[in-house]
Amino acid sequence: MFSLTKPIMLKGIAIAGVLLGSIINTALADNPIIQTLYSTDPAPFVYNNTVYLFTGHDETGARNYDMRDWRLYSSTDMVNWRDHGVILSLKNFSWAKADAWAAQVIERDGKFYYYVTVTKSSGGYAIGVAVSDKVTGPYKDALGKQLLSNNGIDPTVWIDDSDGQAYMYWGHNGPAYYVKLNRDMISYSGSIVGTTVQNFIEGPWLHKRNGTWYLTYAGSGGSNEDIKYATSTQPTGPWTYRGQVMAPQGRSFTNHAGIVDYKGSSYFFYHNGALPNGGTYARSVCVEKFSYNPDGTIPKLTMTDAGAPQIGTLDPYSQPVEAETMAFSSGLITAAKIDGTGGGIYVTSISQNDYIKVKGVDFGTAPGAASVDLRVAAAASGGKIELRVGSQSGTVIATCAVDATGGAQTWKTVSCPVSGGATGKQDLFFKFQGSNYNFDWWQFKRAVA
Ligand SMILES: *[C@@H]1O[C@H](CO)[C@@H](O)[C@H](O)[C@H]1NC(C)=O
Ligand SMILES: *[C@@H]1O[C@H](CO)[C@@H](O)[C@H](O)[C@H]1NC(C)=O
Ligand SMILES: *[C@@H]1O[C@H](CO)[C@@H](O)[C@H](O)[C@H]1NC(C)=O
Repeated sequence: MFSLTKPIMLKGIAIAGVLLGSIINTALADNPIIQTLYSTDPAPFVYNNTVYLFTGHDETGARNYDMRDWRLYSSTDMVNWRDHGVILSLKNFSWAKADAWAAQVIERDGKFYYYVTVTKSSGGYAIGVAVSDKVTGPYKDALGKQLLSNNGIDPTVWIDDSDGQAYMYWGHNGPAYYVKLNRDMISYSGSIVGTTVQNFIEGPWLHKRNGTWYLTYAGSGGSNEDIKYATSTQPTGPWTYRGQVMAPQGRSFTNHAGIVDYKGSSYFFYHNGALPNGGTYARSVCVEKFSYNPDGTIPKLTMTDAGAPQIGTLDPYSQPVEAETMAFSSGLITAAKIDGTGGGIYVTSISQNDYIKVKGVDFGTAPGAASVDLRVAAAASGGKIELRVGSQSGTVIATCAVDATGGAQTWKTVSCPVSGGATGKQDLFFKFQGSNYNFDWWQFKRAVA
């Protein structure tokens, strides 16, 4: 497996982009969830019938834990994830200088609060909080200074459904600390309390289910971290150790849990080093579906390539589907438009045989799809997008030439006929031929029966 670094020119600014290489054996895998960059520290958040997955980001080929921004992805089927790009960056905290580490977003009274770990300009770790009126941002530093500045990392926040009190936990190589957040979510009252949690290292994830509080965390699992958990009848402990959720596996020293329920099932997010050239400083977020045991305990989980099963199907007709909606991809990265219209994410760094897999697209009964619109931009002609079903080498249902549009940021819609097999539920592959064009969205049109 290989990795190439390609500089991408956008408006004359060179952005170091990194290709994660072609992934041959994992064409049918859906873990890791994100292949366009190395992602870390998953913080899933269910809102408006959607899973919003907030992550950190390991810069590639860089020094140890070189992390500068946070990313957002979303899904309604647990398999096809849409990339929302950089959602927050170190630059948004004027008092921070490095280490965009673990973070979590929660909602209260229609506002979204984003708790982050950073290193202060003056040195030492701190927890900051950003706020937005929308889950997808923009998020703004709520305080202009740290919320907590006692060298704490890895904040996790939960609001008790019984009395509305919010609790924030954090910690690293010692007790798991907590404090009560005030109703405004950007200040706290009472003292900081350290609780004893067996073998706690870092990365706490606090949640409450059916009257039981769960504190899930990275512990020492031997050479690498494992995920363990403890429970309590109160948010403040004492915490009873319940065992290991996930043994060390894969190629990353750290792990970090995120647990949510969505559409009637439970999901466990974590990270490992499973992408090509992955490892301790090049991690990737993954997900597994699980069921709590009848007594409320969490079963032991194993990292898989398959990931969670798809919920439902993807509708290719009713609205444009962002090209950065992917079950899997190879060789591609995403970027934000710089066009004065408030951005928007697109797929770029396209080269020969790169591909996007979109899982479980429902083309409906025969005659199925008649044509497909692709929104593209190309400085030069010569590109071609093949649409295949079943696999990367499956039946070609459309071939769309990408001719010069007037520039790499000049977007045009290309319409291509669809033939032979675009009916029923299919995994759809966009297989790229040629290079150096950009892809924004796609939408199929039904054949008239
Ligand atoms: C909820 O999701 C729907 C469908 O995606 C979207 O149209 C709507 O704007 C979202 N509402 C909020 C408050 O985010
Ligand atoms: C966050 O920082 C980025 C990069 O400097 C900037 O473009 C963006 O406007 C900032 N967001 C807010 C809400 O200030
Ligand atoms: C919730 O906990 C009670 C015992 O406290 C148990 O009887 C019940 O089955 C649990 N419900 C679920 C959904 O796990």
